[in-house]
Amino acid sequence: MQPSTQWQETVAPDENVRFEAYAEELHQLQLKNAGKGKPSRALHAKGMPGLEATFTVHADLPDAVRIGLFANPGSYRAFVRFSNGSGAHQHDRKPDIRGIAVKILGVTGRKIIPGMEDALTQDFLMIRSAATPVRNAEEFMALVRVASSPLSGLPGLLRQVGLRRLLDLLRRAAKTLKPVASLATTRFYSALPIQFGPYAVHYALRPNSLPEPGDCPGGNPDYLARDLAERLRRTPVSFDFQVQFYVDPVKTPIEDASVEWREEDAPFITLGHLTFAQQDMERPAAQRLSAFIETLSFDPWHALTEFRPLGNMMRARNVAYRVSTQARAAAAEPNGDEFFD
Ligand code: HEM
Repeated sequence: MQPSTQWQETVAPDENVRFEAYAEELHQLQLKNAGKGKPSRALHAKGMPGLEATFTVHADLPDAVRIGLFANPGSYRAFVRFSNGSGAHQHDRKPDIRGIAVKILGVTGRKIIPGMEDALTQDFLMIRSAATPVRNAEEFMALVRVASSPLSGLPGLLRQVGLRRLLDLLRRAAKTLKPVASLATTRFYSALPIQFGPYAVHYALRPNSLPEPGDCPGGNPDYLARDLAERLRRTPVSFDFQVQFYVDPVKTPIEDASVEWREEDAPFITLGHLTFAQQDMERPAAQRLSAFIETLSFDPWHALTEFRPLGNMMRARNVAYRVSTQARAAAAEPNGDEFFD
């Protein structure tokens, strides 16, 4: 197995100015959604109860993938937050992105963000679609504007991309926003690349739980959290952690987030798994843990230098997440001493 090392980023000289403006725009949205209350996350404001999980790195991995956290087999504690994508708290049935943010604890090695080089965390953030409807951060922000105020957002998007692309974007967005029946049976994808040592990969979580007869989006506004709690009361829930390697600039582009890295071109390899133990999510310790997880900052740039995020949208996120987390006074990175039972 010898993955390609020929991937390349294309960085526009003036892009950071635009990324700072996007971060500020998201910050304004965050303040607007908060009203007179305390700001939540600028996006993915509604979290399901946060959970602890175990992240296990498999033994006998091929040499090419034994990088960073995956160099040696082992088990790590992880804090996990499932979420809906909107900046507003709304019914789980509303068309929306679904997210999962995984923070692995006790990860040694140099981290990317200046001032946080010695942090002991590695974050992986995913959504339920393998690609995004948008090509880049500019289109992403246009869609955020449409979602937050359709009346002014739609004409703006039409001016920006033209009618044909607008219809294509809305059709693709509608596909990724469908309600899901259960988070435990949903497949989650990074949808964007990260460096993996000398290589570039997309990563993903593949659920091991099977849909149950009669599963369908529920009527309760918080049915996703209820479904998860109900499943965990009966059984553990686990996902395989997988990566797929960059192949070439057409099949697996680095800068264009709208192109799915298809499994036929770039097969997934399983490196480990994420397991939630069978538990009662209503016990007081679980609720204390969940409240703590809500205060944390999950950020794709909380990462080992070997796992540097790549591409236009990832670079835009490098500005936006820090602004959002500062505005809501998020907690410092955990050092692994946090226990709630
Ligand atoms: C495929 C692309 C993306 C994925 C997979 C993704 C995923 C996520 C997830 C899972 C969260 C919730 C984190 C949590 O639970 O704390 C989140 C939050 C957020 N995302 Fe993204 N996102 C993407 C693109 C973007 C882009 C392009 C921007 C902005 C330019 C952005 C801005 C934000 C912000 C501001 C937050 C809130 C951060 C906080 O306050 O903690 N995201 N994203």
